[in-house]
Amino acid sequence: MPRVVRFEQTGPIKIDPATLPLDESGRPKPIFICACGISSRFPFCDASHKACRDELPGVLYRYDPATKSAESLGPDTPPA
Ligand code: FES
Repeated sequence: MPRVVRFEQTGPIKIDPATLPLDESGRPKPIFICACGISSRFPFCDASHKACRDELPGVLYRYDPATKSAESLGPDTPPA
C-alpha cells in the first residue's frame, strides 16, 4: 500500500530524552514515530494512520493533508 507523501522539512527533529514525560514508575513514556507519513504532527504519530487501514495492496494513494482523505492513483508501478 504505497502512498505519495510531500515532505518540506530539510533536517531532522531532535528528541531530547530529558524532555520526555515520565510514567507513574518514573520511566520515560514511549514515543510513537509516524511510519505512514500522513501525521499532522510528523514525525510523531497522531493516529492519522487509521485513514490507511482500507488501502488495497498494489495500489498507490495520495492523501489530502488537511482532511486525510485518500485518492487512489491507480496501480503502483515501482521504478525499475
Ligand atoms: S503511523 Fe503515521 S499517524 Fe500513526
